[in-house]
Amino acid sequence: MIISINNKIHEIEVDPATPLLWVIREQVGLTGTKFGCGIGQCGACTVQLDGIPIRSCLTPVKQAVDKEITTIEGIAPSETELHVIQQAWIDEQIPQCGYCQSGQIIAAHALLVNNAAPTDEDIDLAMSGNICRCGTYPRVRKGIKRAAAVLTTTSNTKNENHG
Ligand code: FES
Ligand code: FES
Repeated sequence: MIISINNKIHEIEVDPATPLLWVIREQVGLTGTKFGCGIGQCGACTVQLDGIPIRSCLTPVKQAVDKEITTIEGIAPSETELHVIQQAWIDEQIPQCGYCQSGQIIAAHALLVNNAAPTDEDIDLAMSGNICRCGTYPRVRKGIKRAAAVLTTTSNTKNENHG
């Protein structure tokens, strides 16, 4: 079976019903995506499939064939740079234990691709499936707003430079 993770092709030998989470972590070795509940209720295992956040603990790997899988390791522009959202997470000092945060960032990333200026309600709705036992929700909200502001400024600057 051939799958693409973070724009890299992987050929894997695996039962097509295997949860994508285990393929990502154990076959491919990308351990940023976490196992929390295993039953689709915590969001720790969130990755994107063609840009849509999904629960990789419940998604059979066969559903990811011919799609692009994006994990927390794949959103930064390069190995030496952080994504704007990752930087916002540091600036707002969001993580506590950190366990849920890969899933939070991947969900936030999908939100901001589709909604450049989310309201509190938009954020709460988009992030409602990502549980944080440390209660970082207010900081997650601030981090998303900070990242949204930076991304908007960056895109305005780019447009001005090209205009
Ligand atoms: S580990 Fe997948 S939703 Fe909890
Ligand atoms: S930071 Fe600990 S579970 Fe979210």
